[in-house]
Amino acid sequence: MSDQEAVQRARRAFAERFGTEPEGVWAAPGRVNVIGEHTDYNGGYVLPVALPHTTRAAVARRDDGLLSLASVQHPQTAVQVDLTALHPGHPAGWAGYPAGVVHGLGDHVPSGLSILVDGDVPSGAGLSSSAALSCAVALALRDLLGLGLSATDLVDVARRAENDFVGAPTGILDQSASLLCTAGHALFLDTRDRAAEQVPFDLAAAGLALLVIDSGTTHDHAEGGYGDRRRECEEAAGRLGVDLLREVEEVARLDVLADGTPEGDLLHRRARHVVTEDARVLEVVSALRGDGDPRAIGPVLTACHASLRDDFEVSIPLLDACVEAAVEGGAHGARMVGGGFGGSAIALVDADAVDAVTSAVTARFAREEHRPPRTFVTVPSAGARRLA
Ligand code: GLA
Repeated sequence: MSDQEAVQRARRAFAERFGTEPEGVWAAPGRVNVIGEHTDYNGGYVLPVALPHTTRAAVARRDDGLLSLASVQHPQTAVQVDLTALHPGHPAGWAGYPAGVVHGLGDHVPSGLSILVDGDVPSGAGLSSSAALSCAVALALRDLLGLGLSATDLVDVARRAENDFVGAPTGILDQSASLLCTAGHALFLDTRDRAAEQVPFDLAAAGLALLVIDSGTTHDHAEGGYGDRRRECEEAAGRLGVDLLREVEEVARLDVLADGTPEGDLLHRRARHVVTEDARVLEVVSALRGDGDPRAIGPVLTACHASLRDDFEVSIPLLDACVEAAVEGGAHGARMVGGGFGGSAIALVDADAVDAVTSAVTARFAREEHRPPRTFVTVPSAGARRLA
């Protein structure tokens, strides 16, 4: 959908819902992470690209003390709440993300807001539809209320909405990708000092395509395994005497964790994923910076998947099958993306092999008696912006 169509749709839906015009429309994209998974809360490196799919927020101020939230995708669950009644966990569901941003901005928020959201980032697919939502609203409020906040400040506002209001203990990968990515580039971010570099990632010029495969199994980071992995990483760092696993560069330094107990062995594997993953990000970045063939990053992606599957244990059999089928079908490399326990995979493929790889994966899903995956080819797209 063009930006112009997106604006028209959001304006129309806003007017239908609130009977007035919005003061502006903002958009923020979902993301796929090329590499650097479960490194962000360990102070490590990430390398995401923004998707062309965005969440749009149409916003206007109001003066009755209410926060009124409506979503084109969730027409049955519009929310109207007194600004003074916002508190972590209330409202819940999709409305928690915009409400969390509003709550986080506290005294800066005027005497009421109407927010209409519309979007096409697949939700529950590990493609950061929730970060797209928080970031679109954070950017809208920064512009509308004239808040002197940098993009990095907005990353923190959006992240706190997810961590403290919704209760999903994420790092800063998704929000940074949504707010900081630029078209044609991958964002090389050091999550410890927040240093960022836009690395040119022109796949088409190299005759390549990045295929996204949504397995159709959903995940929820507010509960379960994601929080466990964070705690395990903290425990491993503590036993190694460092604040963050990022500080460990030599895999051999992790040997002390493997003390023969099941817990020690588990912590050793968790930490090994993080330390080797940071090294893989650096390897991919230097391959993309040089003038070599970007196909060389394929096997690094597949190695990342193996590490997420075996050491970090956040994959699921369907995503393993997906990666295997993509590589057998001719992909240069493939891996699950995002927090895991469901969601999507990516595959790096020759542009003229997209159909063959898609068919191989679809056939494998059929064999596993699973409904066909949703697939699309993505290009590194623009980060969050004002559309109107
Ligand atoms: C989720 C989180 C991110 C990051 C990834 C794993 O997407 O929101 O902060 O930890 O998982 O890399």
